[in-house]
Amino acid sequence: MECHLVFYMFSKSTGKRLQMCVKMYVNVCDRMQSDLQSVLTKRTYRMIGEVIFLRVRLVVVTDIRGIIARNENDPVNWSSAEDKRFFKQITTESGLVLMGRRTYESIGRNLSGRINVVMSRQKEINLPYRPNYLVSGTPQEIVSFLRDKGYTDMCVIGGQSVFTEFLKAGSLTDLYITIEPMIMAGNLNLFGEMSNDLHLKLERVLKLNDVGTINVHYRILQ
Ligand SMILES: NC(=O)c1ccc[n+]([C@@H]2O[C@H](COP(=O)([O-])OP(=O)(O)OC[C@H]3O[C@@H](n4cnc5c(N)ncnc54)[C@H](OP(=O)(O)O)[C@@H]3O)[C@@H](O)[C@H]2O)c1
Repeated sequence: MECHLVFYMFSKSTGKRLQMCVKMYVNVCDRMQSDLQSVLTKRTYRMIGEVIFLRVRLVVVTDIRGIIARNENDPVNWSSAEDKRFFKQITTESGLVLMGRRTYESIGRNLSGRINVVMSRQKEINLPYRPNYLVSGTPQEIVSFLRDKGYTDMCVIGGQSVFTEFLKAGSLTDLYITIEPMIMAGNLNLFGEMSNDLHLKLERVLKLNDVGTINVHYRILQ
């Protein structure tokens, strides 16, 4: 988990407050966060004013082979109603969805009740609707930009190129993968090629319906 420590120090001569932000990667689970915060605040560094925890969740639906679409232009019109409900619930709880331009176009509208952030290298995208933010850069730069705007929980919702960039950059904290009981006639995988192994910890498995659509929640071990 990425953790931003904000230090407040006071200049001896002027008494003015100086602020420093240090980024750390900490592997903690939710219930430990408040403990860690109080330990850091009270004991280790007396000058720490604030600890900000970031959650960057990948949210996706796949078939049993890990296929996310038949091809790059194919919309996600094959997932179950229960997954759609789950997706809406988790992304609304988070409040912010981040996606690639192709996924945004395939959805064909903004996702209501959520901040819509779209990644594109183009200055403008020619669509009848506009996202809240059109961004470009590395995953670290984009997460940092959104954190500075005050967002500490975000859902990366696709597609393959964006999922792969965020995973490779080490910017994800959690994976929520819905697996539909089907084998799709397609070839777009959840992730592109990886150069390193990555270890995960299973947090929860939910059965979403009677045909056996399941959602698995993994935490990424750093
Ligand atoms: N099953 C699921 O849950 C799921 C979820 C989402 C998407 N999908 C499917 O995935 C497919 C689309 O995936 P995709 O990999 O082809 O496209 P994508 O990741 O949705 O979008 C790729 C585009 O994002 C922009 N982009 C990517 N990295 C960027 C960066 N670092 N900085 C700035 N812009 C960046 C570029 O836009 P520009 O070309 O404008 O520069 C790039 O062409 C669709 O078929 C969709 O239905 C499935």
